[in-house]
Amino acid sequence: MTKLLEKAQVVENKEVASGIYKCRLRTSKIAKECKPGNFINISVGSNSQFLLKRPFGVHNVIGNELEILYRVRGKGTDVMTSLVAGDSLDLLGPLGNGFSLFEGKKILLLGGGMGIAPLYYLEKELSKDNEVITMYAVKTREELVDIKVSNLVVHIDKEEGCFACDKLEDVLIKNNIEMLYICGPDALMKLSYQIAKKHGVYTEVSLEARMACGFGACVGCVVETVSGLKKVCNEGPVFKAEEIWG
Ligand code: FES
Repeated sequence: MTKLLEKAQVVENKEVASGIYKCRLRTSKIAKECKPGNFINISVGSNSQFLLKRPFGVHNVIGNELEILYRVRGKGTDVMTSLVAGDSLDLLGPLGNGFSLFEGKKILLLGGGMGIAPLYYLEKELSKDNEVITMYAVKTREELVDIKVSNLVVHIDKEEGCFACDKLEDVLIKNNIEMLYICGPDALMKLSYQIAKKHGVYTEVSLEARMACGFGACVGCVVETVSGLKKVCNEGPVFKAEEIWG
């Protein structure tokens, strides 16, 4: 896949839940090249403090525009909250390998917190040819982003007094789920995979790692897999769960 470097224009940047923003960017080519699970690197600010590009999963693609979701959790993302329509940003992408796409399957998507970001675009693509349920788990209602998908199950830990993976087995069995895609905290992904494995459900996970270059040059994003060390940025971020946890 060709990586493109281009200037993108901010179309909209707004807070969509407590401390969580959605930014829509107009690109000339990158958006059209993005597949579900890809990410882009964005240069944040002009100050040397923010020279590194930061990775963001592609949340949605609409024609030549793409959306990212980001949580404010440092100076870089704090600077991003002040972006307004018409501002321009340097983008590098698409990066990473993306999710496998199937047809005619019963599929469950499980997003924990900001893990919902790449699953929204995945749902849009998979639901054309599959039966898809999206399970979206957050700790509190304040961090819930309004996600419009056809078959959504929202789980709020604090209100329900349990975790999403406590309900997972039921959902897998009742809906005869054949494939599971997960993005979220490591503990949620690992535990959910173990449940899915017990029921023979094929599982892919999208990993998060600290990334500097985003294309395999800095070795800053290495993870241990059953077949040795792998770079999340260009051998992932999507892996078969069995590659990570056996
Ligand atoms: S981010 Fe540099 S090698 Fe992966």
